[in-house]
Amino acid sequence: MARVLLLNGPNLNLLGTREPAVYGTETLESIEKRAAAAAREAGLELIAYQSNAEHELIERIQRAAAEGVGFVIFNPGAFTHTSIALRDALLGTHLPFIELHLSNTQAREPFRRHSYFSDIAVGVIAGFGAFGYELAVRAAAQRLARGA
Ligand code: DQA
Repeated sequence: MARVLLLNGPNLNLLGTREPAVYGTETLESIEKRAAAAAREAGLELIAYQSNAEHELIERIQRAAAEGVGFVIFNPGAFTHTSIALRDALLGTHLPFIELHLSNTQAREPFRRHSYFSDIAVGVIAGFGAFGYELAVRAAAQRLARGA
Protein backbone atom coordinates (compact mmCIF):
# COMPACT_ATOMS: atom_id res chain seq x y z
CA MET A 1 0.00 0.00 0.00
CA ALA A 2 1.49 3.36 -1.04
CA ARG A 3 2.30 5.71 1.82
CA VAL A 4 1.50 9.41 1.85
CA LEU A 5 2.81 11.85 4.45
CA LEU A 6 0.48 14.71 5.39
CA LEU A 7 2.65 17.45 6.87
CA ASN A 8 1.33 20.57 8.56
CA GLY A 9 3.53 23.45 9.67
CA PRO A 10 3.37 26.16 12.33
CA ASN A 11 0.12 27.32 13.92
CA LEU A 12 -1.97 24.77 12.06
CA ASN A 13 -2.41 22.97 15.40
CA LEU A 14 -4.64 25.96 16.26
CA LEU A 15 -7.13 25.30 13.48
CA GLY A 16 -10.68 25.55 14.75
CA THR A 17 -10.02 28.69 16.79
CA ARG A 18 -7.31 30.42 14.71
CA GLU A 19 -8.72 33.25 12.55
CA PRO A 20 -11.85 31.24 11.65
CA ALA A 21 -12.90 33.79 9.03
CA VAL A 22 -9.71 32.92 7.10
CA TYR A 23 -9.08 29.27 8.01
CA GLY A 24 -12.52 27.92 8.92
CA THR A 25 -13.77 26.26 12.10
CA GLU A 26 -12.64 22.66 11.60
CA THR A 27 -9.87 21.38 13.88
CA LEU A 28 -6.69 19.82 12.53
CA GLU A 29 -7.63 16.52 14.18
CA SER A 30 -10.90 16.43 12.27
CA ILE A 31 -9.21 17.42 8.99
CA GLU A 32 -6.62 14.68 9.47
CA LYS A 33 -9.35 12.09 10.16
CA ARG A 34 -11.21 13.00 6.98
CA ALA A 35 -7.98 12.98 4.97
CA ALA A 36 -7.14 9.52 6.37
CA ALA A 37 -10.62 8.26 5.37
CA ALA A 38 -10.18 9.66 1.85
CA ALA A 39 -6.76 7.99 1.68
CA ARG A 40 -8.18 4.61 2.77
CA GLU A 41 -10.86 4.89 0.11
CA ALA A 42 -8.14 5.53 -2.47
CA GLY A 43 -6.08 2.56 -1.20
CA LEU A 44 -3.39 4.70 0.44
CA GLU A 45 -1.89 4.77 3.90
CA LEU A 46 -1.80 8.30 5.36
CA ILE A 47 0.69 9.36 8.02
CA ALA A 48 -0.13 12.75 9.59
CA TYR A 49 2.39 14.98 11.33
CA GLN A 50 2.27 18.60 12.53
CA SER A 51 5.04 20.70 14.04
CA ASN A 52 5.65 24.33 14.84
CA ALA A 53 9.42 23.81 14.49
CA GLU A 54 11.25 24.07 11.18
CA HIS A 55 13.92 21.51 12.14
CA GLU A 56 11.27 18.93 13.14
CA LEU A 57 9.55 19.27 9.78
CA ILE A 58 12.92 18.86 8.02
CA GLU A 59 13.69 15.76 10.08
CA ARG A 60 10.22 14.31 9.34
CA ILE A 61 10.77 14.78 5.59
CA GLN A 62 14.18 13.09 5.77
CA ARG A 63 12.71 10.21 7.78
CA ALA A 64 9.82 9.85 5.31
CA ALA A 65 12.20 9.20 2.46
CA ALA A 66 13.85 6.41 4.49
CA GLU A 67 10.42 4.94 5.46
CA GLY A 68 9.30 4.48 1.88
CA VAL A 69 6.81 7.34 1.75
CA GLY A 70 5.99 7.89 -1.91
CA PHE A 71 4.27 11.26 -1.78
CA VAL A 72 3.95 14.27 0.54
CA ILE A 73 1.03 16.66 1.03
CA PHE A 74 2.47 19.75 2.68
CA ASN A 75 0.90 22.83 4.20
CA PRO A 76 4.05 24.67 5.32
CA GLY A 77 2.08 27.52 7.01
CA ALA A 78 4.18 30.67 7.27
CA PHE A 79 7.32 28.68 6.37
CA THR A 80 5.90 28.79 2.82
CA HIS A 81 7.18 32.32 2.56
CA THR A 82 10.49 31.95 4.43
CA SER A 83 12.03 28.49 4.41
CA ILE A 84 14.85 27.66 2.03
CA ALA A 85 15.77 24.84 4.44
CA LEU A 86 12.43 23.05 3.96
CA ARG A 87 12.66 23.56 0.21
CA ASP A 88 16.11 21.97 0.28
CA ALA A 89 14.81 19.01 2.35
CA LEU A 90 12.23 18.24 -0.34
CA LEU A 91 14.74 18.69 -3.15
CA GLY A 92 17.31 16.59 -1.30
CA THR A 93 14.95 13.64 -0.77
CA HIS A 94 13.37 13.84 -4.26
CA LEU A 95 9.92 13.34 -2.66
CA PRO A 96 7.09 14.47 -4.95
CA PHE A 97 4.71 16.78 -3.09
CA ILE A 98 1.61 18.93 -3.31
CA GLU A 99 1.75 22.39 -1.72
CA LEU A 100 -1.51 22.95 0.11
CA HIS A 101 -3.10 26.01 1.72
CA LEU A 102 -6.49 26.52 3.31
CA SER A 103 -6.63 30.14 2.17
CA ASN A 104 -5.94 31.56 -1.27
CA THR A 105 -2.51 33.00 -0.48
CA GLN A 106 -2.44 34.90 -3.81
CA ALA A 107 -5.48 36.93 -2.73
CA ARG A 108 -4.05 38.02 0.64
CA GLU A 109 -1.17 40.25 1.81
CA PRO A 110 1.66 40.75 -0.74
CA PHE A 111 4.16 38.90 1.48
CA ARG A 112 2.09 35.71 1.13
CA ARG A 113 2.34 35.74 -2.66
CA HIS A 114 5.85 34.35 -2.72
CA SER A 115 6.30 30.65 -2.02
CA TYR A 116 9.57 28.74 -1.73
CA PHE A 117 7.70 25.58 -2.81
CA SER A 118 5.38 26.26 -5.74
CA ASP A 119 8.02 25.96 -8.48
CA ILE A 120 9.20 22.53 -7.25
CA ALA A 121 5.75 21.13 -6.31
CA VAL A 122 3.77 18.68 -8.45
CA GLY A 123 0.90 21.12 -7.97
CA VAL A 124 -0.62 23.68 -5.62
CA ILE A 125 -4.07 23.59 -3.99
CA ALA A 126 -5.15 26.79 -2.23
CA GLY A 127 -8.33 28.53 -1.21
CA PHE A 128 -10.68 25.57 -0.66
CA GLY A 129 -10.37 25.44 3.13
CA ALA A 130 -10.42 22.01 4.78
CA PHE A 131 -11.84 20.47 1.59
CA GLY A 132 -8.44 21.11 -0.01
CA TYR A 133 -7.00 18.27 2.09
CA GLU A 134 -9.39 15.78 0.48
CA LEU A 135 -8.62 17.19 -2.95
CA ALA A 136 -4.91 16.78 -2.24
CA VAL A 137 -5.33 13.14 -1.18
CA ARG A 138 -7.23 12.39 -4.39
CA ALA A 139 -4.60 14.18 -6.49
CA ALA A 140 -1.82 12.26 -4.70
CA ALA A 141 -3.62 8.95 -5.40
CA GLN A 142 -3.90 9.82 -9.08
CA ARG A 143 -0.19 10.67 -9.28
CA LEU A 144 0.87 7.54 -7.41
CA ALA A 145 -1.30 5.40 -9.71
CA ARG A 146 0.74 6.64 -12.63
CA GLY A 147 4.09 6.31 -10.91
CA ALA A 148 4.15 9.73 -9.11
C1 DQA B 1 -1.53 28.98 5.17
C2 DQA B 1 -1.20 30.33 4.52
C3 DQA B 1 0.05 30.94 5.12
O1 DQA B 1 0.33 32.20 4.53
C4 DQA B 1 -0.12 31.13 6.63
O2 DQA B 1 1.06 31.64 7.19
C5 DQA B 1 -0.57 29.91 7.32
C6 DQA B 1 -1.61 29.08 6.69
C7 DQA B 1 -2.89 28.42 4.69
O3 DQA B 1 -3.13 27.23 4.88
O4 DQA B 1 -3.71 29.16 4.13
O5 DQA B 1 -0.15 29.60 8.42
O6 DQA B 1 -0.52 28.04 4.80
